[in-house]
Amino acid sequence: MSNYHIKHLEEYYQVYRKSIREPENFWEEIAEEHFIWRKKWDKVLEWDFKKPEVKWFQGAKLNITENCIDRHLATRGDKTAILFEPNNPDEAAEHITYLQLSERVNQFANVLKDHGIKKGDRVCIYVPMIPELAIATLACARIGAIHSVVFAGFSSTALSTRINDSDCKMVITSDGSYRGAKTIDLKGIVDEALESCPGVENVLVAKRINSDIDMKQGRDKWLQPLLDAASTKCEAEVMDAEDPLFILYTSGSTGLPKGMVHTTAGYMVYTAYTFKNAFQYKENDVYWCTADIGWITGHSYIVYGPLANGATTVLFEGVPSYPDFGRFWNIIEKHKVNQFYTAPTAIRALAKQGTGLVDIYDLSSLKVLGSVGEPINEEAWHWYNDNVGKKKSPIIDTWWQTETGGIMITPIPYVTPTKPTYATLPFIGIQPVLMDENGEELKGNQVDGRLCIKFPWPSIARTIWGNHERYKETYFSAYKNMYFTGDGALRDEVGYYRITGRVDDVIIVSGHNLGTAPIEDAINEHPAVAESAIVGFPHDIKGSALYGYVTLKDFGETRVHDNLRREINQIITEHIGPIAKLDKIQFSEGLPKTRSGKIMRRILRKISCNEMDNLGDTSTLLNPEVVQSIIDNRL
Ligand code: WT7
Repeated sequence: MSNYHIKHLEEYYQVYRKSIREPENFWEEIAEEHFIWRKKWDKVLEWDFKKPEVKWFQGAKLNITENCIDRHLATRGDKTAILFEPNNPDEAAEHITYLQLSERVNQFANVLKDHGIKKGDRVCIYVPMIPELAIATLACARIGAIHSVVFAGFSSTALSTRINDSDCKMVITSDGSYRGAKTIDLKGIVDEALESCPGVENVLVAKRINSDIDMKQGRDKWLQPLLDAASTKCEAEVMDAEDPLFILYTSGSTGLPKGMVHTTAGYMVYTAYTFKNAFQYKENDVYWCTADIGWITGHSYIVYGPLANGATTVLFEGVPSYPDFGRFWNIIEKHKVNQFYTAPTAIRALAKQGTGLVDIYDLSSLKVLGSVGEPINEEAWHWYNDNVGKKKSPIIDTWWQTETGGIMITPIPYVTPTKPTYATLPFIGIQPVLMDENGEELKGNQVDGRLCIKFPWPSIARTIWGNHERYKETYFSAYKNMYFTGDGALRDEVGYYRITGRVDDVIIVSGHNLGTAPIEDAINEHPAVAESAIVGFPHDIKGSALYGYVTLKDFGETRVHDNLRREINQIITEHIGPIAKLDKIQFSEGLPKTRSGKIMRRILRKISCNEMDNLGDTSTLLNPEVVQSIIDNRL
C-alpha cells in the first residue's frame, strides 16, 4: 500500500529508484494490490523498441469498467462519481452516483449490443461535454468495443476522415451542443460527414438542445427511448490485457491524423496510479479537470483515472467566459473543488480579465492546481499561484502526450518543491533522457536537448491504427532504442526538467496539437493557392498562433487579399475546425526553398518571430531573393 500514495520527497526518491531498478516487480505490486482481475498475468512486461512492441501484463484478463465502476458499488454506491455542471449556470448540476453510473453504462452497453456492436468493433463518439459522453465511452469499454472519441469541435471533414480511418460502424452524437451563448448543430455536421462514410450503419442521437433535426430513416435513432427500454445489467466482456481500449487521433506531420491505440491493462494501471499521486487525491475530494473528453487529458483524467480511484470527477459543459469570466471560480466555490486541472491558455485568458472576478469567490477548498497542454510561462504561473492558489496550493505542471496515455513529468504536490515553468521530476517509472543532434545521450545536469524516454511505461500507445510502420518511423527511428517525444527540454542543476517546446512540425495553439501539414493541405485546396507554409509565432493568450505564408497561382489575383484570407480560413474551418484558423496570412511571390525543393520553414519561423538578425545560413537556398521580400512585407 505504501507505494501507492507517495507522501514525502524521500519516499518519492525511494519509490522512483525501485521503479527503475525493478520495473516489473514495481508495477506488478501496484497492479496486484489496487485492481481487480478476472485472471492475473503470465508475464509483466515484454518489450522491444526496435520492432517496436510493448506488452504489459500479458495473459491477464479484466474489464476496465469493473475497476472503474462495479468494484466501488459496495462501498461507494451513493457517492457522486460524475458531477455534471451544465453550460447554463441556472440549470441544476447533476450528481450521478456510482450506482446510477453503473446502471446507465449498462443500459447504454445493452443498446450498443442490440445494434450489433461487438468486441473489437469501432464506435465513433462525437458528443459534447454532457454525461452521455462519459457514459458512451464506458459503455463501449464494457462490451469491448473500441471507442474513438472525436472532439465535438472538429469539422465534418475531420470527423469523416477519422470515422473512415478506423472503419467505425456506429456514430454516437447529440442533436446539438451548447457553447456559452451559442448552440452548435452537431447532428448537421454528422450528417455531412456521413455522406462520405459508407461503413456507418447506425447513428444514436442524444437529445440536448431540443433542436429540430433530420433523422435518417433506418440509420438514426434517438438514444433516450432505447436506454429507457434497456436492462440496467450487462455482463462485462472479459478482455485481454493488450486488447485495444480506444483509438484517439492526434495530428502529425503528414496529412492523415494518427490514430493512437491504447490498450487495456497498462493504461488502466498507469492512469489510476498517476491520478492518485499527481493530484494527491483523497477519498472525499472533488476533482475537476476542465479539458474536453475529446482529448487524451479528458480520457485519462476525467474518466478513467478518477473513476478507477472511486473519485468524484466534475464534468463541465461550458466555457470559461460564460456567463462571465468568473465561471471557473464560481464552479470551484459551488462544488468545493479540491483539485483543479486546466491549461495555460485558459489561465492567460482569465488573467487578462484582472483579479476582480477571482477575488469575489471562495476558493479555499483548493489544494492542488494542475497545468497541462503546453509550457506554462512564468507570468501565467505566478498569476495562477498568487490569485487562484493564494500561494497555498502547489502547481503541478504536468508534461505528457496523447501517445504517453498518462502524466510523465510532474511535481508531486506537497512532495516535490515546485519551480515556475518547470515540469520538474519524472513520474515514478519514467526514464527520460536528453539527446543531442548526433544521437548521443546528454548525461549530467545543466544540459539541453531532445526529450526521449528509454524504457517503456504501462500506458505507452502501442501502435497507430492501421499503420505500425508510421508508428515506428515517427517515434522510434530518430534515436536508437528510444521513444522520441518530439519535444525539446532542458535539465537544470538539480535535475528538474523544463519543456522548451516542439522540435518538429507540430504547433501547440491554445494547448491544441496542430500539425502543419494538414493545415497546408487544406489551404492548398483553394483554387487560387499555389503553395503554403505554416509556422507558429508567440501569442499572449494562445501561447502560439499560426502564421501562414501563401503563394498564389496568379499573384496579381484581382480579388482583394482580405477576401482571400477569409476564404482560406473558411477552408481550414471546414477541413479541420475553427481552432486551426490562421492569425496572419501573408501572400508572397515565393517561399524559401532548399535545392531539393523543400520549404525552409526554419527561416519563415524566424521571420514570423521577428528574429531577422538570426536567420542562419540562407546561402544554400534555391531562391535567396524571396527572403528579403518576405521580410519587407511581413505582417
Ligand atoms: C504536446 C502533446 C498531455 C495532454 C494534452 C496535450 C505539449 C503538454 C505540456 C507541459 C510543456 C507540454 C508538448 C507535448 N505539452 N503538456 N506541461 N509543458 N509542454 O496532449 O495534444 O498529445 O500534445 O503538448 O509539446 O508533446 P497532445
